[in-house]
Amino acid sequence: MNLRTLPHIKTERLLLKLLESPRTDLMIDFRLANRSFLKPWEPRRPAEFFTPAFWDYQLRYLIQDYRDGNSLCLVIMDAADTEVMGVCNFTNIIRGTFLACQLGYALAEKHQGKGVMFEALTHAIEFVFSQLDLHRIMAAYVPRNARSGTLLKRLNFVIEGTASKYLSIDGRWEDHVLTALVNPDESR
Ligand SMILES: CC(C)(COP(=O)(O)OP(=O)(O)OC[C@H]1O[C@@H](n2cnc3c(N)ncnc32)[C@H](O)[C@@H]1OP(=O)(O)O)[C@@H](O)C(=O)NCCC(=O)NCCS
Repeated sequence: MNLRTLPHIKTERLLLKLLESPRTDLMIDFRLANRSFLKPWEPRRPAEFFTPAFWDYQLRYLIQDYRDGNSLCLVIMDAADTEVMGVCNFTNIIRGTFLACQLGYALAEKHQGKGVMFEALTHAIEFVFSQLDLHRIMAAYVPRNARSGTLLKRLNFVIEGTASKYLSIDGRWEDHVLTALVNPDESR
């Protein structure tokens, strides 16, 4: 496992990578354009979340966090590397006997319904299992988020239960469906 080299994952239509701080403007464009679209599905964002100062710090922090083995927060770029289309974040990596992490994701409103997140996660998950040697990826969604539930099912995540008041979404503690995907390579 080499955490010095940052991942650069090319897929049929996309490029997945950690965004570096000179490209802060691309992340802010994504966040501002999708501010109201993503609001019902994400934690409440403070005003500073939409500022260059926040993302200058955050992008540097996320690269260090990857190198420390704690997370893999990928941006989904178009193949030409000009636009942030979405994000997929593998966070809270725990090693030892658990070898697990949590997955969260968000796609720009204008890119819904084209299979972009499915394509991105198919490749990102392959990287997490084969390069980060993790055993389990956990993802949770609010029951009314049908698109998220469908996506996880297509990726072969299995529903393991429900948890009440599990995550604070848009300022309210919400019940969630808990799902997980286990590394198909049983030697890991
Ligand atoms: C959840 C979310 C990522 C799903 O996005 P999505 O575009 O529906 O997801 P997919 O990439 O799986 O695309 C599936 C859609 O693309 C279509 N599609 C088109 N070409 C496709 C292809 N080559 N492969 C797969 N699907 C394709 C599918 O038919 C499907 O469309 P439909 O739902 O209208 O039938 C998105 O709705 C989102 O970001 N929501 C807000 C944030 C959020 O909910 N985050 C998760 C919190 S748990």
